[in-house]
Amino acid sequence: MELPASLRQGVERLLENVPLAVLKQAAKTLSDRYRAELRDGRLHMAEDLAVKAYLATRLPATYAAIRASLDALSDAKPAFQPRTLLDVGAGPGTVLWAATDLWPDLEQAVLFEASAAVRKVGETLAGNTIAAQSRWLAGDATIDLADIEPADLVTCAYVLDEIAPASLPKLIDRLWQLTGDTLLSVEPGTPAGWQRILAVRRQLIEAGAHVLAPCAHQAPCPPVQPDLCPFFPR
Ligand SMILES: C[S@@+](CC[C@H](N)C(=O)[O-])C[C@H]1O[C@@H](n2cnc3c(N)ncnc32)[C@H](O)[C@@H]1O
Repeated sequence: MELPASLRQGVERLLENVPLAVLKQAAKTLSDRYRAELRDGRLHMAEDLAVKAYLATRLPATYAAIRASLDALSDAKPAFQPRTLLDVGAGPGTVLWAATDLWPDLEQAVLFEASAAVRKVGETLAGNTIAAQSRWLAGDATIDLADIEPADLVTCAYVLDEIAPASLPKLIDRLWQLTGDTLLSVEPGTPAGWQRILAVRRQLIEAGAHVLAPCAHQAPCPPVQPDLCPFFPR
């Protein structure tokens, strides 16, 4: 799934005049941090250059995966038409763009994001193009979600790997409380990402959730040996 044309053009504008060698080095640093799942008290996208590296190297893939996840959600629940979105760890607004592409009638979106650098880029990209009334909020999702309003759709994409494991159950609990209808969690297709999704799934089932996708059942996962599971990372 390709980036929407106006998002791609916005990204191209932001990357103009960034020397390729500088961008490559920033992309390597960012990639090393993600691969190591480094949690050293610094946000991976604290700096403007790291945000640009994300736009150049990771955004197309995260957009495609999120858009495909929203399709899976919509296939499982065709009548679902969210009017409000809360996206936690919004980055450059990837979920906002994907959700707007699928549900153009989305009315309001709250984009919650810790990094000022990526918030600024997200706001710039969405600009006047995204029809939904969008509010970008600063904060740490592990402690600052108390005053946030619930939304029809709550999302958290490629964020949990940046959160200390001990903080995850409380965060997931809060995201579930904020869900008017549906919670979407997307993680990288790595063994560690898969384990996080399994932990989220277990916790939500215990809280009374019904799993819609990728497998619409509440049974222990994987129900058969991993070799037979199409989602098991190899
Ligand atoms: C890998 S990016 C993903 C961005 C976007 N969701 C996407 O899929 O493209 C993770 C984002 O989560 C943000 N983040 C990490 N920890 C956070 C926290 N505790 N509170 C709020 N945002 C956080 C990071 O700053 C970063 O923008």
